[in-house]
Amino acid sequence: MSRNFYPELVRVDACDKVRGITRFGTDNRPENLAHGAFAVATIGKGRVLSVDTLSAEALPGVLSVITHRDTTSLKPAQFLMAGGYAFQTHSPILTAEVAYRGQPVALVLAETLEIAIEAAALLRIDYEEVAFAATMDSPLAEPVAQAQAPMRYPLEDVSVGDALSAYEGGAVKVDSTYGMERQFQNPMELIGTVASWDGDRLTIHEGTQNAGGCKFGVADQLGISPENVTVISPFIGGGFGQKNSMQSQLVLAAFASRQLGRPVKIVVPRRQLFHDTTSRPATRQRVRLAADREGRLVGALYDVDAQTSKLDFFPAEHADTAARFYGYPAFKSFTRLIRTDIPTPGYMRAPFEHAAAFAIESAMDELSYQLKMDPVELRLRNDTAVDVVSGLPHSSRHVAECLRRGAETFGWSRRNPKPRSMVAANGDLIGMGVAIGLYSGSGGPTRARIIARRDGTVTVNVGIHEMGQGAVTAIINVVAKRLGVQPSAVTAMVGDTSGVPQPLTAGSWGSTSAMPAVEAVCDALMQALAEAGVETSGNVPLGEMVARTGRDEIQTDASSVAPGQDPQVLGRTDTGRVAPAGPVYPGFVTYSYAVHFVEVHVEASTGRIRVPRVVSMFDCGRVLSPRTARSQAIGGVVWGIGGTLREGAETDARYGGVMNGDIAEYLIPVNADIGSIEVGFIDEPDFQVNRSGVKGLGEVVMAGVAPAITNAVYHATETRVRDLPVRLEMLLRSQE
Ligand code: MOS
Repeated sequence: MSRNFYPELVRVDACDKVRGITRFGTDNRPENLAHGAFAVATIGKGRVLSVDTLSAEALPGVLSVITHRDTTSLKPAQFLMAGGYAFQTHSPILTAEVAYRGQPVALVLAETLEIAIEAAALLRIDYEEVAFAATMDSPLAEPVAQAQAPMRYPLEDVSVGDALSAYEGGAVKVDSTYGMERQFQNPMELIGTVASWDGDRLTIHEGTQNAGGCKFGVADQLGISPENVTVISPFIGGGFGQKNSMQSQLVLAAFASRQLGRPVKIVVPRRQLFHDTTSRPATRQRVRLAADREGRLVGALYDVDAQTSKLDFFPAEHADTAARFYGYPAFKSFTRLIRTDIPTPGYMRAPFEHAAAFAIESAMDELSYQLKMDPVELRLRNDTAVDVVSGLPHSSRHVAECLRRGAETFGWSRRNPKPRSMVAANGDLIGMGVAIGLYSGSGGPTRARIIARRDGTVTVNVGIHEMGQGAVTAIINVVAKRLGVQPSAVTAMVGDTSGVPQPLTAGSWGSTSAMPAVEAVCDALMQALAEAGVETSGNVPLGEMVARTGRDEIQTDASSVAPGQDPQVLGRTDTGRVAPAGPVYPGFVTYSYAVHFVEVHVEASTGRIRVPRVVSMFDCGRVLSPRTARSQAIGGVVWGIGGTLREGAETDARYGGVMNGDIAEYLIPVNADIGSIEVGFIDEPDFQVNRSGVKGLGEVVMAGVAPAITNAVYHATETRVRDLPVRLEMLLRSQE
């Protein structure tokens, strides 16, 4: 029945997870564990003048209070995107500086978590406060043209042809500005660390997408050899970019544990996550599109303001994505970073692509109404096989097929193009919208090791992290198929620095990097067997082949790099650094694609929006694990709905911080918000980008959901929403 190359393997870790057996990072409770809790800054910016610890220390069970006066031996963290390992340059409690409201300013260690929390509340902290900019609109916010920003990896504006003249000469034009508030990941598993020392050897249990980065980063901050650090992160309860680098608590947990001479656990509570970790930056995007009367784009101008911190220049890569949507003959972008007093923003699932798709695909919808052209047809007319930025061909781009198959499955032909023309039996206005999304095709250096045993079991160790996306299931699927063994005979070891190096798993390059290494190590194993004189072409079971070598087990290593990468780049990931390539490779460009069709029902009197139905088609190359891919895609669409209708962090510019910093008030979708989500895959391998034929999936699934929804809202209500999240009053006001 299935036309998939890989079988429909059930998620291998599902059974343990639903029974609560899976042990996440801070589920580890070594003997004699001490617990940490932070006191956090109650000013918007400034410095700590004094910390009165007397009442806290008098509380029975309190072990110690750590302030900036105690941490002078620690080196500050370095920003991931400036060659370091941390989510930002600033390290709370390593100096007296307070860079933003909610930043940790002291750490209490106690016998129990409850005592630590109580004692943290008893600290009396005096500050000197200075003026600050909490939002992009604050007078003290500092705009910087990104192309001029002093960044380690400077990002140029995109410029193809004479876009301004082309735009001005266009027959049909759109000029709209789209806004999006800051958003936060909120994985189920909170950020946290369990640190313990055995002599001079440090062991870290932590849910992280970057065990390698944490190992080298914490060693650097502590001034110890990375050889003496092991980071263990076999399961992550959701990462989504928030766990892509060292967080503030890691070095402090390790330091406190060394001071106390006992293991220390710090779990960062939900409200603190809104104040001392990354967020998707707020954006303002102006899109100018011009087309001829047949709907062919002639030019596009794209201006982006993206929020960053005053600590670091977090790159804004919206334009790189925006320029790849269509075959624009001319395109020009201008990106500014708006420096404010917040933690450095970071990568949050489809970090730029969620926002960029909202702007470009909303503008395309606006254009379709001006042209009186079907929005699917408009997109088909502007599809391209060539990347306009580099002039190189796309290695694969099945946007048109996604559009056609999606339209067919969704029943797009039943849509009456006139806004406010479709009404449900209960009076709700029905809207149907479409949008595409895309995400760059990256890959990077990865090492893998395999051990095949006489009893037929196989252990594969590869540099990747299992954050719930199904990486381990996909690895086992690939190994089982390639070696002709049962999936149950295969064990995968990931996220543990005591094996092969564990580089950052992010950017949808997990599978694209790891699977070629997994395939290579399987092939290396077969070659090792052949070299040992074993006939490998027949139907001999793997365990029998191992037995015929006379040994109990055979171990081989292999590695892979992305197209065009020098194998020496493996040295970078061996030291915990980031080294992906793509989407522009020698001779071609690679992106993954999504097309979403959305139906909304809008209650006419209240503006309440329901999303009863979504159909999404994806072009992610070969699907390695159909079950977990489908699950990941559905999850991405759910998040897209939340990221459009619910999520937005609110800041009072007078105080800073996030007012709705918990998941009671920072809204995310619940089951009742979600209707039918049908997802499909083109499942065409792309062997140009890697030997496994796989492109990224994890992020593209979310890209384009937002504009598909707001386009459907326009179709239902004739109200164009250009700011996310969509709020009821946006629909009410315009109906007056
Ligand atoms: Mo992803 S947002 O690069 O973990």
